Amino acid sequence: MGIKFYEAEKVFKLDTKNTSYVIGIVDTENFVGHVYYGKRVEDSDLQYLLRISEAPFVPSQNNRDRLSFYDSFPMEYSTHGVGDFREDSIAVETLSGHKGLQLGYVSHKIYAGKSVLQGLPSTFGDESNCETLELYCEDKVLGLEVVLVYSIFNDVDAVTRSVRVNNHGSEAIYLTKVLSSCIDMDNRDFDLITLHGSWARERHIQRRKIGYGKQGVASLRGESGHQENPFMALTTANASQEEGEVYGFNLVYSGNHHTLAEVNQHGTVRAVIGINPVDFKWKLEKECSFQAPEAVLVYSSEGIGGMSRNFHDLYRNHLIRGEYKDKKRPILINNWEATYFNFDTEKLLSIAREASSLGIEMLVMDDGWFGHRSDDNRALGDWTVNEEKIAGGLKYLVDEVNKLNMKFGIWFEPEMISPDSNLYRAHPDWAIAIPNRTAGLARNQYVLDFSRKEVIDYIYESVATVLRSANIEYVKWDMNRPLSDIGGVELPADRQGELFHRYVLGVYELQERMTKEFPHILLENCSGGGARFDPGMLYYSPQIWTSDDTDAIERLSIQEGTAMVYPLSAMGAHVSDCPNHTVGRVTPFETRGYVALAGTFGYELDVTRIPAEDRAMIPEQVEMYHRYNDLVREGDYYRLASYGENHNHDCWQVVSKDKTKALVTYIQVMAQPNTRGRILRLKGLDEQKSYRLSVNDKTYKGSTLMNAGILLEKMQGDFKGKLIYLESV
Ligand code: GLA
Repeated sequence: MGIKFYEAEKVFKLDTKNTSYVIGIVDTENFVGHVYYGKRVEDSDLQYLLRISEAPFVPSQNNRDRLSFYDSFPMEYSTHGVGDFREDSIAVETLSGHKGLQLGYVSHKIYAGKSVLQGLPSTFGDESNCETLELYCEDKVLGLEVVLVYSIFNDVDAVTRSVRVNNHGSEAIYLTKVLSSCIDMDNRDFDLITLHGSWARERHIQRRKIGYGKQGVASLRGESGHQENPFMALTTANASQEEGEVYGFNLVYSGNHHTLAEVNQHGTVRAVIGINPVDFKWKLEKECSFQAPEAVLVYSSEGIGGMSRNFHDLYRNHLIRGEYKDKKRPILINNWEATYFNFDTEKLLSIAREASSLGIEMLVMDDGWFGHRSDDNRALGDWTVNEEKIAGGLKYLVDEVNKLNMKFGIWFEPEMISPDSNLYRAHPDWAIAIPNRTAGLARNQYVLDFSRKEVIDYIYESVATVLRSANIEYVKWDMNRPLSDIGGVELPADRQGELFHRYVLGVYELQERMTKEFPHILLENCSGGGARFDPGMLYYSPQIWTSDDTDAIERLSIQEGTAMVYPLSAMGAHVSDCPNHTVGRVTPFETRGYVALAGTFGYELDVTRIPAEDRAMIPEQVEMYHRYNDLVREGDYYRLASYGENHNHDCWQVVSKDKTKALVTYIQVMAQPNTRGRILRLKGLDEQKSYRLSVNDKTYKGSTLMNAGILLEKMQGDFKGKLIYLESV
């Protein structure tokens, strides 16, 4: 690993173990060009890749065609308004209404370690495992400094990028677009992979060929969203799970995003990612800075699986923090699908008693414990315990649960306010709304204006007061509607375009405060299921509720798409009751356990009321979790088959880093008549090692298991599952 500046060639080269990222400075105006990103190369004299020896040449040699240069040069960070007509990365508006800017390199810094991003989540590293390059660029006319920041790590093939803008000009300026990353490269017949979805149907994989023009995904919902994850991958046309080249892009941000690939007239592709510029306008006063979020770039020459494993390692080692970062999470039971709003102390304790006798380790009290929250129409914002339901108070309940040798967790939705709440009656202006326009309700609630300090402080104190009042060891932080009717009462007219981003900064500030004051609490983010499953949230919470859809079969595609980018250790996954509450499907309890085992594992059912034979299986499932969770949480993830593609079965595998252990999970969705047993070719093992298989106690070499495969005998029945464990002998 290393970052080097080659002075003679004017080239910056960032080498990770298997990749190189190269930036070149050209011509008298110091244009910053994107030279190369891909499989590691050893030479540094690579400026020829910028094609400046071809027409239209650089402006110092051919100023009459300056615009042609701007419009074809592979830009490291494209600018608006002066002649690069492809997707821009930064756009401004001066007080006199002018818009153009052009950046030239001024200086740079290379240092060991990595700086934090003010007010924003980001990957971290220290002097022993990471290096950073800061490229100082400037627009001379505006006095605007744009710092392009890059970090690389010694244990993972990823490059992180972020952008800081400093206004050294003589007056304020408006930033109307500040993306986090831009690269230009030849279109090698790329496919585009994105993760699309909806409530209860998050992160389904979509793959299509890219064509001329712009294609990509975005959010304008104020959250990263159920609909389009802030992720895209460009893959060579033949790329499969283990072969082909793949570029992955992900944004460490939980608000509006803009994730796009553009193929232009010369057949090159520009890939950008950052905050969505729509409804974004940031007033930057003189000598003030704006920090754009961090983008993560991963290149893999080992297919989509190689990209996934890099993302997983980066996020597990350099993004997720806190006490549970590398720890097994307690098996929880959540009362949402068990009781919805219909519970009281006695009901919760009856669930806890039964659950604890079966080996479940934590009770989570979901929505409905506060204010007069008898249903989802009221009381958000009133974070005081409803003692009519929680008779004896919260501390009593928590102490009783603790006596059962269980931890206690609680649900909050801190960002929201119900019109029917004491908080709204006292502060109607705390809800985000456009003056004189009735804001639209969603789930009968509004969103609090987190750009206001007094709102954040009030909410923090009311949540923290509850957390201080009893031995609470887990918080589920929910967020159940998108933002609309964007209007901030405290913001002047020319700062209204800051509200979306300021809101996200407010959420981050609150979560930072909470994790600082309560470092022992396990935080799980949630947004109507998985509407905020993004790396920004993972910086604060090691796990995120993946989807409100707990059906084992629906979960196959949701979890496959999620695990394409995010580690299994982050995927909240529970066994729930049947018929499933979302789709009405009935699946075997055993299969539900296998599917939930691929995530954090827990239960979401009334354990006192499920069929006795299901209940009887829980101790075994608890043991299964304890046996395999280290492997699932820490191992390398391989996809063997995709139900989304074959519409019949699903299969994934995790392999320990030292390749001594592996676990294969196979789910047969639909049984088919007159078929034969299936040969499964395993992945990621050590060819030379011998492995004993749990299913038949036989021992085979890794090379046999990976090339010839194992025979999975035919299973009768739909929705059946099998676990195959291997250990080297
Ligand atoms: C959201 C969450 C659910 C549950 C409900 C409670 O939908 O995703 O798990 O907590 O809110 O209202």
